[in-house]
Amino acid sequence: MNFIKVNTYEELSARAAAIICGQVAMKPNCVLGLATGSSPVGAYKKIAEKNNTGEVDFSNVKSVNLDEYVGLNGDHEQSYRYFMNNNLFKHINIDINNTYVPNGCATDVEAECKAYDVLIEKLGGIDLQLLGIGYDGHIGFNEPDTYFEKATHKVTLDSSTIEANSRFFASRDDVPTQAITMGMGGIMSAKKVLLIANGKGKRDIVEKAFFGPITPSVPASILQLHPDLTVIYSEN
Ligand code: F6R
Repeated sequence: MNFIKVNTYEELSARAAAIICGQVAMKPNCVLGLATGSSPVGAYKKIAEKNNTGEVDFSNVKSVNLDEYVGLNGDHEQSYRYFMNNNLFKHINIDINNTYVPNGCATDVEAECKAYDVLIEKLGGIDLQLLGIGYDGHIGFNEPDTYFEKATHKVTLDSSTIEANSRFFASRDDVPTQAITMGMGGIMSAKKVLLIANGKGKRDIVEKAFFGPITPSVPASILQLHPDLTVIYSEN
């Protein structure tokens, strides 16, 4: 594991953007695994800047996102499709048809989950997976459990996750209680993994996940077994 501690969110974002753009430069038709949430927003801004100055070209890149709320369609302002369009895809020269987010409004959610894993395989797997980490150690929406779930699946969100995400909704009651998430198999089979975390509040979980025992009660701890993991942490 390559654990990088930096001083500011700005620096974290710059480093993460450099790693992601480096991946695209090395393999212009790569598959990026992307995340939503507040952690990657700064990196996405920097990626857009680099793309706009011609430093990096996303025209042949494909992306697969980690997760989506069940019941929200892509037009809903809190859906992860909407987030990705507005925080990244609209600002770079990626072909929107090459960007994939699970369909939270699929009539058959089980079938959607299976199809998502088939899609990842068809794309040739993920070259670089970007992750944030939840206060309870979740990655994607893989919540603490007694085992690691391999495949893309539907989850019921923990109350701490609903609480944390309620800051984006009008009220806690508006936060969907279920989501579709890529499983640990999809995440762990990515060739490279980059996890970013910032803020004093994330310090304990970062310590547990990367310097504590590997256990499904701290889902991110499985990443210690990944052969090419970079973690960037900023306390501020
Ligand atoms: C989002 C995702 C989540 C977030 C995590 C941290 O696609 O998969 O696991 O990465 O909840 O969220 P933030 O960055 O908002 O603290």
